[in-house]
Formats: sequence, C-alpha cells, structure tokens
Amino acid sequence: MKVLVVGATGMVGGEAVVQCLAHPAITKVIVFVRRDLPADVSDHPKLESVLIKDFAIWPENVLLAHSDAAAMIWAMGTYKGSITADLEYPVTFIESMGQVLETKHSGAPFRFVNLSGKFVRRNQEKRLWLLEKPRKIKGLLETKALAFADSHAKIWETFILKPGGIMTKKMVSSGAGIIGAMMGDSWVVRIEELGAFMVQLAINAEGEESIIDNARIARRGRELLESKAT
Ligand SMILES: NC(=O)c1ccc[n+]([C@@H]2O[C@H](COP(=O)([O-])OP(=O)(O)OC[C@H]3O[C@@H](n4cnc5c(N)ncnc54)[C@H](OP(=O)(O)O)[C@@H]3O)[C@@H](O)[C@H]2O)c1
Repeated sequence: MKVLVVGATGMVGGEAVVQCLAHPAITKVIVFVRRDLPADVSDHPKLESVLIKDFAIWPENVLLAHSDAAAMIWAMGTYKGSITADLEYPVTFIESMGQVLETKHSGAPFRFVNLSGKFVRRNQEKRLWLLEKPRKIKGLLETKALAFADSHAKIWETFILKPGGIMTKKMVSSGAGIIGAMMGDSWVVRIEELGAFMVQLAINAEGEESIIDNARIARRGRELLESKAT
C-alpha cells in the first residue's frame, strides 16, 4: 500500500513518516517536500521524496504517478495562520487530485487525513478572542475538505484530526508528561499516539467519524501502540 505525506519535515508529519515506514502494511511512502529530510529517513528503501517548488501547483503527471495511493496524510501547517499553507495549498491538492481520481480511481475512496486542531473553528462569523486568524483559516479548510468528500463520495473521504496539545517525546522525558497525564485525554495527546492514529487512518479508516477529537486520537493511538508492543 502506498501512502502520501505532506509536512514530512515537520514535527507531526515527521512522526507520521517514521511510523508509516515502520508499518508492514505500507510498502511505499511518498513525501512531497520543499527541503530534504534527514539522511536516516531519506535513505529508507520504502521512502521516495518528491521535491515540490510551489505547493500551489500540482502537476497532473506527478499526481497521476501516485493516483494508486490509498491516502494522503496532510500535516503541513503554520501556527500563525497562512492563507497559502493552511488553506490554498491543501485545497489545490484536494481539487487537483480529485480531478485525477475522477478518471483514474478504482476501489476504495482515497483518504485525506488532515491535521487540524482542537481549537480550529469552522464558523467564520463568530468573533474569536484568541488566535482568530489561524483558527478560522484552518476552519475554512475543514469546511472545504469535508464538503469535497460529500460531493465526491465515490473517490474521496476526508478525516479531520483535532488534537489539543501535542506532547513530544522530549516533553515527556523532561517531566511534562505528568502535566499531560493530569490534563487527560480530552486535551493532550502524545506524538506517538497521534502518529499511530494517522497511519491507521491512512491504512484503514473503517468505523471512524470524519471529525475526530483529541480523546479518540489519544485512546485509539494508545491501543495501536500497545498492540504493536505485544
Ligand atoms: N503542536 C501542537 O500542540 C499542535 C496541536 C494541534 C495542531 N497543531 C498544528 O499542526 C500543524 C503542524 O504542526 P507541527 O508542530 O508539525 O509544525 P512544524 O514542525 O512547524 O511543521 C510544519 C510543516 O509544514 C510545512 N510548511 C509550513 N509552511 C509551509 C509552506 N509555506 N510551504 C511548504 N511547506 C510548509 C513545513 O515545511 P518546511 O519544513 O519546509 O518548513 C513542515 O513540514 C500546525 O499547523 C499546528 O498549528 C499543533
């Protein structure tokens, strides 16, 4: 099974890539990047990097070459809110890949796994007092990605992940894991849990809702990690 990843050089996308590479059901991981990944990752035999100069342009030949992929894990994103990176780039991918799949796709719908956030809001009318710009821009993407899946149900499924605070391995080892544990599954998720859950959605999303909250990500992610360890 082939899985595509965008945002592979980032914290969350990087974890998704590492877990995709380790998963036996995934035979090929295609990362679309604007800069190289570290050599220990990029040398992996399952990995192929495609250099993208401008994420606003998705050439048809590039998409055609990967129209056999099962899913895209879209983990590109900014913290301040960027109309291009947080909205235009993913929407262009959705529309361009959708067009290719309309003519090319057979079998199960393509799964678009979108990293969003707990505090992202789809309602554009309501005034937000904190971080209004990034929360609303990403909310617009949620709306568009869900609407695309609704109108293209034969070829496309969208999954919106809404993690709260993401706890890195460094944070856990520095003792902040205790704070995370105190805050609980509604608010905090470990990066490994998030990565495991994203990879599972890419492989098989049966029974999952389109909008997935932090608690579901943390609990299911933990189950997946535990089943791997036994
Ligand atoms: N940390 C948390 O607790 C948390 C919780 C919920 C949601 N989130 C959201 O999750 C998203 C990803 O978080 P992260 O910590 O993984 O971020 P990160 O480490 O900063 O990674 C961001 C990724 O997006 C890419 N990117 C950003 N702007 C781009 C652009 N203009 N063109 C091409 N690529 C671009 C980066 O590529 P380059 O490496 O090439 O720059 C990188 O791969 C963010 O939007 C964040 O708001 C984070």
